[in-house]
Amino acid sequence: MPYIRETIITTADKRGKVHIAPIGIIAERDGWIIAPFRPSVTLDNLAEVPFAVANYTDDARIFAGCLTGRRDWPTVPVDGFPVPRLAAALAHSVLAVESISDDSVRPRHFCRVVQEETHAPFTGFNRARAAVLELAILVSRLNMLPREKIDAEIAYLSIAIEKTAGPEEKEAWNWLMQKVTEHITAGNDTHSARD
Ligand SMILES: Cc1cc2nc3c(=O)[nH]c(=O)nc-3n(C[C@H](O)[C@H](O)[C@H](O)COP(=O)(O)O)c2cc1C
Repeated sequence: MPYIRETIITTADKRGKVHIAPIGIIAERDGWIIAPFRPSVTLDNLAEVPFAVANYTDDARIFAGCLTGRRDWPTVPVDGFPVPRLAAALAHSVLAVESISDDSVRPRHFCRVVQEETHAPFTGFNRARAAVLELAILVSRLNMLPREKIDAEIAYLSIAIEKTAGPEEKEAWNWLMQKVTEHITAGNDTHSARD
């Protein structure tokens, strides 16, 4: 399996409207692949403006927020490029799309880093942040997962939340858990569908 960095990708359409989405960028040779599943605003934006900013942030609320309708995170212009970075980025890479391998499910955009900058120090790992990231990935796949898997993952991840979360991680966790609850009470989980 390839190496993947979990980032917040900023893109813009040709009118300059910015879009923010959590995307795992995939290491490939001397660059990175952005592979959005269809349909996707990120995909449409890359077709209009072939630049993206990979934002490296430790703010778990941005990952959780983007998956729960809270996409309005402050951005800052990047000199000389049409796409801004997140204000909360500890560092960022500007990625220029060099080639596209089209696909009906998940087109792959090979990108080269054309600018990079650091803005704030990385202050160490935190288990609760990692747990929020894992729950965000789980929430983005709720429709594909059986109920048993959802329950087991949440039981394990909640240990890190109970032991190591600060207020921001708790808030992010609660946003995501609300989505999980909505999914389960709507009877969308595959366990209920099977019963
Ligand atoms: C950590 C993380 C990584 C993700 N990576 C991808 C990805 O590589 N491709 C993708 O299409 N969606 C990915 N997702 C889900 C997208 O963030 C979500 O579907 C998003 O809304 C993309 O659609 P949009 O461009 O229309 O916003 C990821 C979600 C999380 C939490």
